[in-house]
Amino acid sequence: MTREHQHTDGTATAASGPRRRTVLLTGLAGAGAGVVTGAGAAVARERATPAPDLRLERARASARPFRGEHQAGILEAPPPYAAFVALDLHAGADRDAVRRLLTVWTDDIERLTAGRGPLTDLEPELAAVPASLTVTVGVGPRVVGLAGAERPSWLAPLPAFPQIDKLLAEWSGGDLLLQICAESPTTVSHAQRRLTAGVADLAAVRWVQRGFREPFEGPGVPMRNLLGQVDGTVQPDVTGLDADLLWVGDDGPAWLRGGSSVVVRRIGMRLDAWDRVDRLSRENAIGRRLDTGAPVTGGRVDTPADLEATDELGFHVVDDAAHLRRAHAAAPHERFLRRPYSYDDGTGPETHVGLVFVAYQADPVRQFVPVQRRLAEMDLLNLWTVPVGSAVFAVLPGARSGEVLGQAMFA
Ligand code: HEM
Repeated sequence: MTREHQHTDGTATAASGPRRRTVLLTGLAGAGAGVVTGAGAAVARERATPAPDLRLERARASARPFRGEHQAGILEAPPPYAAFVALDLHAGADRDAVRRLLTVWTDDIERLTAGRGPLTDLEPELAAVPASLTVTVGVGPRVVGLAGAERPSWLAPLPAFPQIDKLLAEWSGGDLLLQICAESPTTVSHAQRRLTAGVADLAAVRWVQRGFREPFEGPGVPMRNLLGQVDGTVQPDVTGLDADLLWVGDDGPAWLRGGSSVVVRRIGMRLDAWDRVDRLSRENAIGRRLDTGAPVTGGRVDTPADLEATDELGFHVVDDAAHLRRAHAAAPHERFLRRPYSYDDGTGPETHVGLVFVAYQADPVRQFVPVQRRLAEMDLLNLWTVPVGSAVFAVLPGARSGEVLGQAMFA
């Protein structure tokens, strides 16, 4: 006989009848016996082998490959939890310090993503569930300079966007970036701790941005951000025709081929003000419906918006200042892969809630900046959003078998 066994987390696994009875016996034995013998010993054995938790089994099995042409954590569908961690090298760091740090991280990341703790891990049990963990490493201009490699011209802070920026040093810049993503917040936390503690003699944490996202509507619908919008719909085909938009190719420095760049912008949301806006105006601000995420010109979430459509008075249906219209690529190269996460620090300044906006592209100055400039000049969304952090990193190519991350920088 098989029955549904309800876990405290709401998931259900099949539990056999005898096991359910054993649970009752366990209670009795625990109440009466100081020494476990006979039937009591059998009960103790049953206790030691709990019913399989299918969710846990899946999480254990879900190790993402670390080695390859590109780093992991870019093309995969983003899992629900992330930490973006920027570090600064200690003063006086040299070429050897950079090399040592990347050697330590290569080994530690390979172990963590495979479900094994790093060599120095005092709690390797916390690494046993990789939960689709990926760790993606980025470097800033100082690291490239210390390594003695050619700095791509775009590897610098973004230009200022004075109309919107309220940037704070505490959320901006950095010598190194770790993007840590997983299906478990425990896995993310543990990886963050091990990877930062493991290089504490070489670099210190500058900022940490924790993020979360959930595809409430299931596969195919990217996520809902904290303004309630379906976010991440229009993306380039980076695994197909648009791969050149993502990966640095022959026109970039040789050490970065197969790598990319990442822009991380912390964008606060003025939710109190947003709460006072009626639904129609909210949809008008973005140019998409809130319920389905479809364009306000009709169709489904994946229907292209008709930017030319007009109403009976001759006005554009997609507002001239709507986020969708202003963000839409004005030329084919003005596109990038968005991989955002929501954040909520619980309490604090008005911007304690928002979006960790993350964009991957081969060249941020050519692809990202024109779009951000247009949005800074005019975008209805600016009424409720405020950028408080900004950073740009070169994303190292993947480490193939036997290689250390970033080793081509030292060639
Ligand atoms: C808190 C800030 C932001 C929010 C809440 C937000 C939200 C959204 C939403 C809901 C969409 C429509 C669905 C989709 O295609 O994903 C969208 C589209 C888009 N957003 Fe944002 N966004 C933000 C910031 C930015 C920034 C900073 C950029 C780049 C500079 C950007 C670039 C884009 C692009 C390229 C699109 C697709 C436009 C198209 O339809 O072609 N967004 N955004």
